[in-house]
Amino acid sequence: MDPEKVMTQDAKTGGARLAIDGGTPVRTEPLPLEFPGVHQMNEEEVDAATRVLRSRSVFRYYGINLQREVEAIEAEFASFLGVSHAVAVGSGTGALHTALSALGVGPGQEVIVPAYMWVSVAAAVVNHGAIPVLADIDDTFCLDPADVQKRITRMTTGIILVHMSGAPGNAKAIQKIARDRGLFLVEDCAQCAGGSVDGQKVGTFGDMGTFSFQMNKNMTAGEGGCVVTHNLRLYRRAFACHDLGYARDANGRLIFNDPDLKLWGKGYRLDELRAAILRVQLRKLPHTIERMHKSKYRIRQALEKSPKIKLRKVLDPRGDTGCFLITTYTDAKTAKRVNVALRAEGIVTSDQGVSNVVMTDWGLHIYYNIVSLVDQTSVDGRGFPWSLKENAGLARKYGKGACPAADSLFERSILLPIPSCLTEQDEDDIIRAFEKVARAILAE
Ligand SMILES: Cc1ncc(COP(=O)(O)O)c(C=O)c1O
Repeated sequence: MDPEKVMTQDAKTGGARLAIDGGTPVRTEPLPLEFPGVHQMNEEEVDAATRVLRSRSVFRYYGINLQREVEAIEAEFASFLGVSHAVAVGSGTGALHTALSALGVGPGQEVIVPAYMWVSVAAAVVNHGAIPVLADIDDTFCLDPADVQKRITRMTTGIILVHMSGAPGNAKAIQKIARDRGLFLVEDCAQCAGGSVDGQKVGTFGDMGTFSFQMNKNMTAGEGGCVVTHNLRLYRRAFACHDLGYARDANGRLIFNDPDLKLWGKGYRLDELRAAILRVQLRKLPHTIERMHKSKYRIRQALEKSPKIKLRKVLDPRGDTGCFLITTYTDAKTAKRVNVALRAEGIVTSDQGVSNVVMTDWGLHIYYNIVSLVDQTSVDGRGFPWSLKENAGLARKYGKGACPAADSLFERSILLPIPSCLTEQDEDDIIRAFEKVARAILAE
């Protein structure tokens, strides 16, 4: 490097040359992988799993010595959230499908989904024969209430609010829109279990809330999910749909004479093993969140001093679960440069982690990366549900450009997972790397 350039660079970074320019990186040890619940796992989960195996009763309805773990996690999760009913299922995707079945979603209906979501959200709508309609996000990175209003048509039946990247969306505003316009509201809380708005847990604002307990989530058994609701009718329908389409009695025997519950089941039941693990993970959830929240807000406080780093708007910081930090920059080029520089400073996990990415690289969370949505593909090869006559004329724009605010935020923002096991040293390194990179790149 030209010595004069090195001098200018060193002056800007307070003497520390950026690692991308040949300087010493802030750290060389990879950061811990994300997976919030996993870092808190110990002998307690092992004991829970072996208790079930020793009972030789791994199915929720009967067994040699049934422990009723699934029933217990449903009751405990409902009580934790402050909601009347919960149905444990095998995945967050299954939870979304179960909720939409309970709500009777089908052809001829539009369901509003956010530009920032996960492929499963659109999949649940499409698999029910309905049409997903994208709405833009705002600087909360969740649904923009004003844009939701604009996307409502006479065919709209519901809204799916997805609480993305650990922090709640504007649940109160979206709840009001849904109520005023007579639409259902489903909250997808897969990435925000334990989050809240003004003390009320996410998942309890809508008609139904859905959760995932897959390994990247705040509590986990590898796979798993849950559907919650205050509404007894929706609960009974969800219960039937997640299973074989019918109600069951207290002993798990199927009931065929309930006139409302002769439905079609999806086979999403949770097993006793994972339920037992999830009960332990639920007890640990407040601690898991506290760890991430503390790390994230220590880092946020430090970054607030850099005027050129814009932090994600969090409506109620107390209700943020803390599992991701999002920072936004003036333009895409700057975001990319900051990201590359941060990674060179050692702000990365090992290869299998999400690490530290510009959001456009964040896969199937970004609407225009969901190829099957953009291309409107169908499983039957005959255009279901796009070509159904009930769906003719419904709005469907899924290519880049459909949600301009999201497009701009995605390319200007960097997503950094905050594991639940960061040490103060890890936090210091993240702060130091951001400060070093900001001094060199953002001061230009
Ligand atoms: C927002 C969101 N919804 C739904 C899901 C689906 O959950 P699962 O992987 O358990 O099917 C995920 C999982 O990543 C998610 O992030």
